[in-house]
Amino acid sequence: MLDQITALKSEALSRLSGVTDAGSLEAWRVEYLGKSGRLGALMGGLKDVPKDQKPAVGAALNEARGTLEAALAERKASVAASPVAEERVDVTEPGRVVSFGPGRRHIITRVIDELVEVFGRMGFDVADGPELEDDGHNFVKLNIPPSHPARDPIDNFYVDPPGSSASPRMLRSQTSTVQIRVMERAVAGGDGRLRGPIKVVAPGRVYRPDTVDATHSFMFHQIEGLYIDRGVTLVDLKSTLLHFARSYFGPEAMVRLRPSFFPFTEPSAEFDMRIRLRPDQPPRWIELGGCGMVHPNVLEGCGIDSEEWTGFAFGFGIERLAMGKYGIPDIRLLFQNDVRFLRQV
Ligand code: DAH
Repeated sequence: MLDQITALKSEALSRLSGVTDAGSLEAWRVEYLGKSGRLGALMGGLKDVPKDQKPAVGAALNEARGTLEAALAERKASVAASPVAEERVDVTEPGRVVSFGPGRRHIITRVIDELVEVFGRMGFDVADGPELEDDGHNFVKLNIPPSHPARDPIDNFYVDPPGSSASPRMLRSQTSTVQIRVMERAVAGGDGRLRGPIKVVAPGRVYRPDTVDATHSFMFHQIEGLYIDRGVTLVDLKSTLLHFARSYFGPEAMVRLRPSFFPFTEPSAEFDMRIRLRPDQPPRWIELGGCGMVHPNVLEGCGIDSEEWTGFAFGFGIERLAMGKYGIPDIRLLFQNDVRFLRQV
């Protein structure tokens, strides 16, 4: 038995030294070390070995298995390292022709970039905040009282059950949250007072559990504007909106404010713009969004002295603008990511 083991071992090792590819290596492994391989067969014979020889034979079998496994691992490494003809890449081969052409930015991304560019020329920086918010930033700090209908759990995507903590998490329902984030950031550190003006726009996604149809989606985009300085008035708000309208839509654009109510602004207004969305259409009024002078409660809640600083804010939806501008009849087209649509716009 001991002689058989020695013979098998040396045969296996000498065969192994001639193996140069992964396929024969595997065949070798199956023949000698596999489940019904030859070493296994010898091991099966151990039960017939006289009792006094069992320890020695068992040890020799184990030693043989160890040696063969080690030799296999070593061989495997050297086979893998040596170049194999079939796997070589022919770098001189001409590339394949790609039929779909280069990609392009999504229409919403493009409109956001345009808006940021126009507001950027008017001195607005870009700010952002988390989409996973808490109701402190989405409501409380925006002066929206607990009884306000906008806080109804039915109309919001709460992540934590409302009332489960001091400020349960939710997907933000408006980019006005970023106003709070920016003001908090501006007073944080230092002596806890606002040190200079804030002038930002914040584009981003917002979420509301609306039933999806041609004009509604549970996720859409808004852009928020916030300007805080000493002596900012409603005149600055209106002229900013007008200047924006003329820069983005052309010199004939007009702006109209209609008195309205938002908890975080006082006074508040809705604003419309009379614009020619497409060259082939006459100019018409479209309701764009809300605006107003930042409510003193909101400023004070963020640690900003409302006697020293005043500001305006505005916010409007991006899809409406994009759809009007590009003649897109259904909001769902924007988010289905059908390349036949994406390629056209
Ligand atoms: N957040 C409001 C909405 O989603 C829009 C809005 C109104 C934003 C007034 C403002 C504002 O900044 O001052 O309906």
